[in-house]
Amino acid sequence: MKYEIIRERDAYLVKSLCNELMVYQKSKAKITPERFDSMSFETRLLPSLEKADKNFIMIAKDDDEVVGYVYCNLSAKEVYDNDFATFFDINSVEDQVGCLSQFFIKDGYRGSGIGTRLFNEGMKWLNQLDVKDLFIFVSNGNDNALSFYKHKGFKESHKILDGFITVLRNM
Ligand SMILES: CC(C)(COP(=O)(O)OP(=O)(O)OC[C@H]1O[C@@H](n2cnc3c(N)ncnc32)[C@H](O)[C@@H]1OP(=O)(O)O)[C@@H](O)C(=O)NCCC(=O)NCCS
Repeated sequence: MKYEIIRERDAYLVKSLCNELMVYQKSKAKITPERFDSMSFETRLLPSLEKADKNFIMIAKDDDEVVGYVYCNLSAKEVYDNDFATFFDINSVEDQVGCLSQFFIKDGYRGSGIGTRLFNEGMKWLNQLDVKDLFIFVSNGNDNALSFYKHKGFKESHKILDGFITVLRNM
């Protein structure tokens, strides 16, 4: 397995995995799964890259095939108070917040440490930015991901959108 940080303009390399992630999350969701119908690489990843102050995408490659990626960013806290939702109490955080925003390992490659490696690299990048407030948002029904993040030290903070999303924090 090879691990590579990719440039923002090469984000299309994770396009199909990003779209698979949306389908996966929809398949797990019990609460308003239809929200995922409008979510895709174009409507989620590209706008996030635009809005963030700093971005980090790392891919895992098996030969030439991209089999996993993690996407983390650093953004102004106001980004998380928008028409879609208020993700957390804006007054409870510093001006910029870090987020592990997207994370996906292809079926067949899960459970062999690739996720842990990408997660650790994402956290390393966030930690060197000296950002205090870190968030991960997990959609309902994705219990594997929830326990993965808890296992890695994140704590459940609250739910938003009537339970559609569980908000995890580093504190
Ligand atoms: C969540 C996800 C990214 C984790 O990646 P992964 O490569 O499967 O994770 P790892 O192999 O590092 O394993 C994670 C832990 O689960 C355990 N595990 C064992 N067998 C496993 C299996 N079949 N599947 C998943 N985890 C397994 C591992 O032992 C490890 O525990 P440890 O940290 O104590 O060693 C991956 O399962 C995935 O892409 N899921 C679908 C998409 C998704 O839910 N993304 C998150 C959106 S918020």
